[in-house]
Amino acid sequence: MEKLLIKKSSRLNGKIIVNGSKNSALPIMAASLLSNQDCILKNVPNLIDIHTMISLLKKLGVSCKIKDKKITLNASNIKNFKADYELVSKMRASILVLGPLLARTGRAVVSLPGGCAIGTRPINIHLFGMEKLGAKILIKNGYVYAEAKNGLKGNNIVLPSISVGATENILLAATLSKGISIIENAATEPEVQDLCKFLNNMGSIIKGIGTRRLIIKGKTKLKSVEHSIIPDRIVAGTFIIAALITKGNLIIENIITKHLDTPLRILKKMGANIKTNKNSIIVKGEKTKLKSINIKTNPYPSFPTDLQAQFMSLFTTIKGTSTIQENIFENRFMHVSELNRLGAKISVKKDKATIIGVKKLVGASVMASDLRASVSLILAGLVAEGETRVNRIYHLDRGYEKIENKLNPCGAIIKRIK
Ligand code: UD1
Repeated sequence: MEKLLIKKSSRLNGKIIVNGSKNSALPIMAASLLSNQDCILKNVPNLIDIHTMISLLKKLGVSCKIKDKKITLNASNIKNFKADYELVSKMRASILVLGPLLARTGRAVVSLPGGCAIGTRPINIHLFGMEKLGAKILIKNGYVYAEAKNGLKGNNIVLPSISVGATENILLAATLSKGISIIENAATEPEVQDLCKFLNNMGSIIKGIGTRRLIIKGKTKLKSVEHSIIPDRIVAGTFIIAALITKGNLIIENIITKHLDTPLRILKKMGANIKTNKNSIIVKGEKTKLKSINIKTNPYPSFPTDLQAQFMSLFTTIKGTSTIQENIFENRFMHVSELNRLGAKISVKKDKATIIGVKKLVGASVMASDLRASVSLILAGLVAEGETRVNRIYHLDRGYEKIENKLNPCGAIIKRIK
């Protein structure tokens, strides 16, 4: 198993180009199941999760050509209706094939994803949506069996709580359902918006993009489409923290700045010197003394749970007491004990972490428990005295393209070892 060795680095300095968004690419790749025409996707990140989705789609009969960051998917010959436990257990987002497979073929069998390090993560809202569209759902032997013999029918679907994945799955299914569907209390994340734009380019008619009320006019046939995946706002946010924690200067390019409105507003309130352009950000970490702050995670446009761990690493280095309330996942503080191993002073009570800034962090061996937790340990490792060894980095590679190749040219000293 690979590990990362991180030596305390000086201020990071340079330019980093952000890759395409994993969380946008995954549902869009699943959308290829809706049509028998080519789906050409550009700016697709080269990540383990993307390759897992390719393997899953291939098993269902989708052809896939990859050339650098461009993937061409064609689902003209679907030959299988089952997403096996083996692939779904590797990546929860595999559940996103349920909606399009069911809508296109009238049936789908998908393994139940189960829980993960950050919480139980049920799929009840996904299934509720499918039932509202007329599917019969049966859960047996750890699998969801979904059937709609005479096709799906549009309906008014009020989500009991906001879910990114459920909104996407229902959107995908509604695209090929008869008549009009309305999703109320929909997620508005940029990745959901990107999926809507992709589906509209394919010929569907979705209105209300970016609002809590999506109106979808079902189609019977979709057309060939070429689409560029939006930049990864979470990866961009991670690099902003890398600049601030090392008191360095980074230019971060290929981003959509407005997707980071809330995190940037918080950082500016803390005193960070950040200059924003439409598609790039300049962070000047030198000479700035950041102030502690209290933040809460919530659905977009509020502060994203996927940047919570990275902000926590930064807070450990800031004088005073900061707090983070995690409102999305019930168990997303697995990184706390590992950051404390590096000398941080963090305590957790229920869904709230209290972080008392320390004068210095000190390198140690730590264990990555999930994707964003892994990167928070790397960020802390950049400023911890001596050497930090991050174990189990396969979590990291699910969401970050070889992070050492991006940070080392800017002055970080990160080595990947077997
Ligand atoms: C997506 C993102 C993930 C991000 C999360 C929240 C992808 C591939 N992953 O995950 O990186 O952290 O959004 O922004 O895009 N829930 C239910 N029942 C359901 C579905 C969800 O109770 O059927 C709960 C979850 O357990 C969680 C909350 O709703 O507590 C939000 O989850 P959701 O928005 O669905 O997250 P994902 O789509 O899984």
